[in-house]
Amino acid sequence: MFLENLSLENFKNYSSSSFSFSPKLNFIYGENGNGKTNILEAISMLCYTRSFLLNSDNDCVKYGNNNFNIKGEFTSGININSTLRYSYNKDTASKSLLYGNDKVTRLNEFIGSFPLIVLSPGDLKLSMGTPLDKRRNFDLLISQVSRLYFDDLKSYTKVIKQKNSLLKENLVNRKYSSKDLKNMLGLWNEELVSFGIKILLRRLDFIEEFRSYQAECFNRIAGSSYLPVINYESDINTDSDNLGIDALRRSYSELLESKMDTEIKRGISLAGPHRDNYIFLMEKNGDLFDMRTFASQGEHKTFVVSLKLAEFGFIKDNIANSNIGDPILLLDDIFSELDKGRIKKISSLITGFNQVFLTTTDKEYMDTLREDFDEISAYHITKELPSLVNQL
Ligand SMILES: Nc1ncnc2c1ncn2[C@@H]1O[C@H](COP(=O)(O)OP(=O)(O)OP(=O)(O)O)[C@@H](O)[C@H]1O
Ligand SMILES: [Mg+2]
Repeated sequence: MFLENLSLENFKNYSSSSFSFSPKLNFIYGENGNGKTNILEAISMLCYTRSFLLNSDNDCVKYGNNNFNIKGEFTSGININSTLRYSYNKDTASKSLLYGNDKVTRLNEFIGSFPLIVLSPGDLKLSMGTPLDKRRNFDLLISQVSRLYFDDLKSYTKVIKQKNSLLKENLVNRKYSSKDLKNMLGLWNEELVSFGIKILLRRLDFIEEFRSYQAECFNRIAGSSYLPVINYESDINTDSDNLGIDALRRSYSELLESKMDTEIKRGISLAGPHRDNYIFLMEKNGDLFDMRTFASQGEHKTFVVSLKLAEFGFIKDNIANSNIGDPILLLDDIFSELDKGRIKKISSLITGFNQVFLTTTDKEYMDTLREDFDEISAYHITKELPSLVNQL
């Protein structure tokens, strides 16, 4: 699957612009602040139904206007064309996403239909990031290949919200007796266990499956002296001898039970997959080193680049039996963060990918990319208008 045409209307700094893209490498260059990232952001809004930068729709409306429109025409390998239209109106605060002529109302049916991987300078800090950053990254990744996971996550989040609002309400006006409150919390906890265990098991399976994808990418970029490892950290006992569904249920129920008094005191849910963490480690000669304390800045970046590029193979293989087509990759200005040797390795790795979009302020990177890509479509983004510049 690739994005053939993109039109932007009153989106950020674009009044009305259209782009035709190559199915392989799209090299987008220009000075700071000219609108390179904005193009990638628009693509992410079509594929993810929200901005990869987590900007609000309001912030994306071009200053002085009331609404924006993004239109993307996609083609899949077997020549099926699909159009996505994302519109937002500031006055009515209404957003709509059309897939062909149909309004997308059920996110779970849509997510993963246009698989996308984004790597931006913000992501390069993922290994130093918060548990929330890491959960968000992998939740989006797993959701793109599993509707079931997306649904469970949504149900779980809803229960957490309801439980939290009960806990908060109790802090403000203690209208329930301790016994009633604990009974009600017990009911929410049962729901949490039921959805939470499914999420937990999927995440544990995921890190097992993902390991070889990341190892391969890391090896190709940085050699084999280290092996990247991701572990899952949870207050629920996930030791290998406790991995049966019944044992996990029991551990989780007991954990929730043991936390109940503290949760009541603090007015917030304290245990479960919404508090879990992914730990990034490096393995050398059988010893494991925690990235947070061990890695240099460059090693952090290499770890994350290998992780994000590994997402390509992971998604591709997981949707191989569908007619969706391979994911699109957006690389937002990451070359400036890496040394030449790594850039060369990344370039040779991504030639085997599907459609790639790459932004940079430095058009010299074209020379490196040309060694791996036969054909590159280049776009020069200036303050005035974007232009296609294929003969550089
Ligand atoms: N709602 C908006 N309306 C109009 N212009 C906007 C809006 N939001 C952001 N901009 C402008 O978009 C520009 C930033 O675009 P973008 O982030 O795509 O630049 P860039 O080319 O990626 O720059 P850099 O090389 O620094 O990353 C800024 O000049 C900013 O003022
Ligand atoms: Mg940018």
